[in-house]
Amino acid sequence: MTRQATSQGWRFPDLADDSQAAARAFQAACTPDLHLLDGPLLGSGPTARGATLPLEKSFVGLKVAPMHVPPFSLDEQLRQLGDRLDAAVSQVLRSGQYIGGSTIASFEAAFAHACEVPHAIGCNSGTDALILALRGLGIGPGDEVITSSFSFFATAEAISAVGATPVFVDVEAETYLIDPERIPAAITPATRALLPVHLFGRPVDMERILTLAGDHGLLVIEDCAQAAGASWAGRPVGSWGDAGCFSFFPTKNLGAAGDGGAVVCRDADLAQRVRELAVHGMPRRYLHTALGYNSRLDALQAAVLAVKLPHLSDWVERRRAIAATYLRELGDLPGLVLPEAGPAGHSWNQFVVRLAACPVEQPSCQSRCTPSADSATYGLPEACCRDWIKHQLQEAGVSTIIYYPIPIHRQPAYADLGYRSGSLPHTERLCAEVLSLPIFPELTSDQQARVIAVVRQLLGGVSATPADCHATLSIG
Ligand SMILES: Cc1ncc(COP(=O)(O)O)c(C=O)c1O
Repeated sequence: MTRQATSQGWRFPDLADDSQAAARAFQAACTPDLHLLDGPLLGSGPTARGATLPLEKSFVGLKVAPMHVPPFSLDEQLRQLGDRLDAAVSQVLRSGQYIGGSTIASFEAAFAHACEVPHAIGCNSGTDALILALRGLGIGPGDEVITSSFSFFATAEAISAVGATPVFVDVEAETYLIDPERIPAAITPATRALLPVHLFGRPVDMERILTLAGDHGLLVIEDCAQAAGASWAGRPVGSWGDAGCFSFFPTKNLGAAGDGGAVVCRDADLAQRVRELAVHGMPRRYLHTALGYNSRLDALQAAVLAVKLPHLSDWVERRRAIAATYLRELGDLPGLVLPEAGPAGHSWNQFVVRLAACPVEQPSCQSRCTPSADSATYGLPEACCRDWIKHQLQEAGVSTIIYYPIPIHRQPAYADLGYRSGSLPHTERLCAEVLSLPIFPELTSDQQARVIAVVRQLLGGVSATPADCHATLSIG
């Protein structure tokens, strides 16, 4: 059921006039963001705010359900940009030029400019961007590449795909990023490169990474998949290392209408090698100088990305504002560890909180959780409370995601690397504790208020949860 703001408060266009005041009181007492849906409602009881609400007879015929907050949604972005996207896609469709051509070249130029580098090469995905950069830099069998195990699997998978070996260094518990202090101990004569991941949009300290790389004669490849729009010390991520690799997966800060990625770099020779590798190792038609890939960014995706790119910095600003609100409103809850505000250039692709598992002095679940199957199977710290809170949030209409429940070094696919349980303690603990709250530029303040209210009710010791509210008010 829709509601409209008026000078007298909410008005519900679907209700008769004599029901308006009761509906307003009802909505205000329960939570401001409850949605009134069609269906029977025949009961009364305590609301999320603890008030008891007698139901007026005018409410018969209605059912109340909490607002659903998705972890990510494109609805509003499509409403705002839909016409421009349709026009851009239609123009490519009608041009008949789907592979190569000016749409791609002009997006690549615009993206390179945004990253403050001379070269950007579009490709099929963020995974391929990593593979192409590694291959372009000559990394292959016998080489080791140091990276983080607290990342999406593709980070390490790309290293293995070129025949090299990923070497995992633990992350810092506070930043979730590779711990520069631990890198020197992982360097061997076979080490060729450092591959830091700007996880969740938080930039790695690139000055420290470059100093380490310089001291040990290593290459640097930045995994910027989650960090479009982020910067370190005022310079965009991707512009610091020998190469920067971006993903345009739809949930990223700059998302295509499907898969897409890009390698950015300063070196013209590297750019040329990456460009050739992305098209079957082919410097000119039907001459193949290397075994490459079929990994082009197609023109339809480039057209979509070209419409969206000018909005990237505003979207990142909006993500920063949402993160600041979460940090302000959730900072006092026992058992909830918030992410650090981080450097100014954080682009907040995810807002990832931590919930410690039982037993702790004040377990978040108040001992109502059950052991986690993943923890037992993959030799990880217990994730019972995090899983319980995630379930409770879902019941209250707030969808969350766990990035990532199993670290890369404990994945069955990497069993042969021999990393034991406990070998990367911060990474393993994070996998058992992290939970990503909804964050995307179009998240409304009503939706965010709902997330905050539900989290506060669950962790702040308020006895009536929104789920209770929903159940009570829906009784038939
Ligand atoms: C950190 C990281 N690296 C690499 C990738 C791979 O990108 P893609 O899905 O575009 O292949 C992702 C995608 O989620 C990612 O998050």
